[in-house]
Amino acid sequence: MLFQSAILAASAAVSVAALPTVLAAPETFGLITIHSGSAVQNSGVQAARSSLLVNAKSQNASCDAETNTATFVIKDQELLLYAASATPQTIFVDRSGMGQGQVGYVTGAEPLGKNFETKGWAQNSTTGLVFDGHSLVACPGSIDGAWSLWLSGVTANPAGNQNCTGVKLQVVPTSQPIGCLYTQ
Ligand SMILES: *[C@@H]1O[C@H](CO)[C@@H](O)[C@H](O)[C@H]1NC(C)=O
Ligand SMILES: *[C@@H]1O[C@H](CO)[C@@H](O)[C@H](O)[C@H]1NC(C)=O
Ligand SMILES: *[C@@H]1O[C@H](CO)[C@@H](O)[C@H](O)[C@H]1NC(C)=O
Repeated sequence: MLFQSAILAASAAVSVAALPTVLAAPETFGLITIHSGSAVQNSGVQAARSSLLVNAKSQNASCDAETNTATFVIKDQELLLYAASATPQTIFVDRSGMGQGQVGYVTGAEPLGKNFETKGWAQNSTTGLVFDGHSLVACPGSIDGAWSLWLSGVTANPAGNQNCTGVKLQVVPTSQPIGCLYTQ
């Protein structure tokens, strides 16, 4: 909100011709998981406890307005949780033997783990949001009734999770993004 106000204030001083550029940013979006006929069809992606989840009763984030889903933005192939101010929260994946396809996020100055990768996110009009061409899987049995999200193509049972199901992450643009600080 603050960011938008600043842009509006700045644009007031310039000509109408500059408006399209102003409208282009920031490109924030939500994500929904798509797997027809599954329990995670059309579920809004949530961020909690340094993980990405769907179907949690509450993500318990501190937000500027009421919401139970996360808002994202991509910068230089990095996927960030959107915040109107202050603390950045950056999504990582870990494809090592230890990480097994873990998808999580670090907060502020929290250091990245040895095998954490942050660059490689892209929107594909067919396959949705992917990391280095890979989509995600959702695994049941996480906290609060939630399913946790993992990178596909690393192992069938990431961290021992069973019955994981492949999902497409569909991008849903948000014109009025809600900034949050998500739990660590
Ligand atoms: C949200 O908070 C409730 C109440 O403290 C807790 O039971 C639940 O596990 C939390 N959910 C997540 C996803 O952290
Ligand atoms: C989208 O994904 C498909 C299937 O993996 C791939 O063939 C195509 O090149 C991708 N498109 C872009 C723009 O990355
Ligand atoms: C996985 O599926 C099997 C067979 O349907 C079931 O017995 C088991 O409880 C499921 N495990 C989880 C974690 O959902």
